[in-house]
Amino acid sequence: MTDRTHLTTVEEVRDAGSWLFTARDQYGEQEEILLVPCENSGDSDDSDDSDDSDDSDDSDSAAEPSAAESGVEAWVNRCTHEAQKLDRGFGAAMRDGQIICPKHGSMFDACSGYCDNGDAADTTLVSVEVGVEEGAVYLTDDSYEFDHEGSVEDGGGDDSGDADDGERDSGEDDDDDMPSSTSHIGF
Ligand code: FES
Repeated sequence: MTDRTHLTTVEEVRDAGSWLFTARDQYGEQEEILLVPCENSGDSDDSDDSDDSDDSDDSDSAAEPSAAESGVEAWVNRCTHEAQKLDRGFGAAMRDGQIICPKHGSMFDACSGYCDNGDAADTTLVSVEVGVEEGAVYLTDDSYEFDHEGSVEDGGGDDSGDADDGERDSGEDDDDDMPSSTSHIGF
């Protein structure tokens, strides 16, 4: 039996654009997982016929629809090119149903996880099983156990809470009208 965990709702994922949570894998390691809207309206592109003809009782009418059919997919929050988070803590960049890697710009199909462009071309994101029932999204993947909402850091596992992000406060400098040309090569 699959011990499913309620995560959020399809509506919330769609409204926010993405939804991040942290789970523990079978080794107890924390893994960030990204929920994204999948608006795939039933174009089953790869129809590879299953050639295992042993005991395929092909009457597997699943009781509950898959997450993709219900509008949400889940992927490990890590680019396939380098160990780069797709969602760095403030939502994944999405465009035209694709997740954009913030480092080198490769785009992954939100429904299939496949990338056909850029540095991550011809790779697929690591899939995580989720299910949807009556608009609620559940983690159904036996390989993962829900830990907390948000990034790994949001779980309070780090030492200090609000560390400085290195982001400067805008509009605090003395002169903002002229571009200071110190150490700036013009031409
Ligand atoms: S790290 Fe994502 S495309 Fe390079």
